[in-house]
Amino acid sequence: MVNKVPVLTLDGPSGVGKGTICLMVARELGWHILDSGSLYRLLALSAGSEADLNNVAQLADLARDMQIEYVTSGDALGIYLRGVNVSEAIRTEMTGVLASKVAAIPEVRQALLDKQKAFAQAPGLVADGRDMGTTVFPDAELKIFLTASAEERAKRRYKQLNDKGIDANLSQLTVELKERDERDSTRSASPLLAADDAIVIDTTSLDIEQVLNQVMQLVKQRFG
Ligand code: C5P
Repeated sequence: MVNKVPVLTLDGPSGVGKGTICLMVARELGWHILDSGSLYRLLALSAGSEADLNNVAQLADLARDMQIEYVTSGDALGIYLRGVNVSEAIRTEMTGVLASKVAAIPEVRQALLDKQKAFAQAPGLVADGRDMGTTVFPDAELKIFLTASAEERAKRRYKQLNDKGIDANLSQLTVELKERDERDSTRSASPLLAADDAIVIDTTSLDIEQVLNQVMQLVKQRFG
């Protein structure tokens, strides 16, 4: 019998800090990482800003056929689309908004399912997203759902952008975040939702080290 690959799912809304936590946990455990949001962002980038969101079959084909490569070098993760490094290009707010629109299309989600499941490789996987625990890895041994108030998440995003020297407007960021939450939570296909068996951690008043400690404690309890 083939041994099952251990999977930790980390779901939650935009800007909650999942990406940072996933990277830290994956590094500590020496496990692989799935940044599922990057797949929707890559599709948005492939389709372009003029994407016809009504042409569902074309978008689903594009999702299935995308040539993607993830290359880890040191602490950085390079993301390549058709051989071009798009690690920065996929992170713009515009691509994020288009990503959440293509992500609402059930055929697109279905088309990306196998690509996501294929990330479960030994010695283990940390999967970051919105529906990792509910849809993609429903049998995962440990499911964690991170939350924080929209205001706190907008502040974190604002600081992150400022640190990179990017101008941002806090109230506009808060509005955009709430709109994205609304779209992600109310769509019919795999809405943003904690799995019934997920452990919810409210990170509003926690710093990154405190969140990491709580997650690592749960990991040790579950995986030894
Ligand atoms: O996490 P990130 O901001 O990169 O995700 C971009 C968008 O992709 C989200 O707003 C969400 O609409 C979508 N997404 C999703 N399911 C996932 C991961 C991301 O619908 N598992």
